[in-house]
Amino acid sequence: MLTGAAGFIGFHTCQKLLDRGDTVVGIDNVNGYYDVSLKEARLARLIGHPNFTFYRADIGDRAVMADIAAGHPSIDRYINLAAQPGVRYSLEAPHEYTHANIEGHLVMLELARSNPRLRHFVYASSSSVYGANSKLPFSEEDRVDHPVSLYAATKRSGELISHCYAHLYRLPTTGLRFFTVYGPWGRPDMAAYLFAKAITAGEPIKVFNNGNLRRDFTYIDDIVNGIVAVLDRPPAVIDGIVPARLYNIGNNRSEALLDFIAELVRALGREATFEFLPMQPGDVLETYADISALARDAGYAPTTPISVGIPKFVAWFKEFHNLS
Ligand SMILES: NC(=O)c1ccc[n+]([C@@H]2O[C@H](COP(=O)([O-])OP(=O)(O)OC[C@H]3O[C@@H](n4cnc5c(N)ncnc54)[C@H](O)[C@@H]3O)[C@@H](O)[C@H]2O)c1
Repeated sequence: MLTGAAGFIGFHTCQKLLDRGDTVVGIDNVNGYYDVSLKEARLARLIGHPNFTFYRADIGDRAVMADIAAGHPSIDRYINLAAQPGVRYSLEAPHEYTHANIEGHLVMLELARSNPRLRHFVYASSSSVYGANSKLPFSEEDRVDHPVSLYAATKRSGELISHCYAHLYRLPTTGLRFFTVYGPWGRPDMAAYLFAKAITAGEPIKVFNNGNLRRDFTYIDDIVNGIVAVLDRPPAVIDGIVPARLYNIGNNRSEALLDFIAELVRALGREATFEFLPMQPGDVLETYADISALARDAGYAPTTPISVGIPKFVAWFKEFHNLS
């Protein structure tokens, strides 16, 4: 079962799992946080596959989720990607975050715990749990108890609740802290899409903190390879050891935001104009992933620099929006 199947990362992960012959039950409430037609277009590419079943459902709805799970007793792995994402929106709509990221996450863990066949519960966390940490690169060993946005606080809560379920019920869980994912079919509220949209419309791009931001940008195919590698490696259930793991999943490169924009401008073949703005509340200055743990345990090895990933994103963006 994969939740968030109509979302950016969920859609690509479903495609990869179906391509390799897995059977996938996809869940998504297809909410209106961003353009629903993009979610529907992703779903349209999945629905119809003989090994894909889709339910439009809210993971926070216990009864509905229990019914769906009861109808698929052979499910043995869960990938919980459904969430209310976005740092900035969490200041506007806090309850969306507690509903999907805490209550919904708990509903999924409860389903997993009551499933005797369950082998692995994989779920999405976020680099935002590192808050304003200044030690770089971010390591899973670092303290993460100073979130600077409600989004980060809900993602950290998901990690803690998962650890508790692994401890109490010996439920094998793996959390993945994603670092700024971009690529074809990407999210309209994120940098690559927002900038491409503004540049192609001839509008200024809004650049926060006067462009003085750095991000570990991770290409979607690298992320999906990491998710699938992890899925196939559940933590062992060994006496005295809690079967809970947490990994960074990034590109292991911290890029200046202005370099990322320069790649976009090059790939789009258009000029950009800028509106420089102050730092946004809840944002962090830099993210940079230490990925050695995931490399060691799952052979994770990202291969896509932004000079390769951005042109692929732009090719999709132009095709999807019928731009020349
Ligand atoms: N994209 C990134 O850079 C990034 C970075 C860090 C963490 N993450 C996490 O990765 C996961 C996937 O992110 P994404 O970028 O694909 O986002 P997305 O918004 O494209 O996908 C999430 C999907 O979940 C669905 N959803 C939301 N609430 C739901 C609910 N209550 N019930 C059922 N479905 C619900 C949405 O409709 C959406 O299709 C999320 O957990 C997100 O927090 C993403």
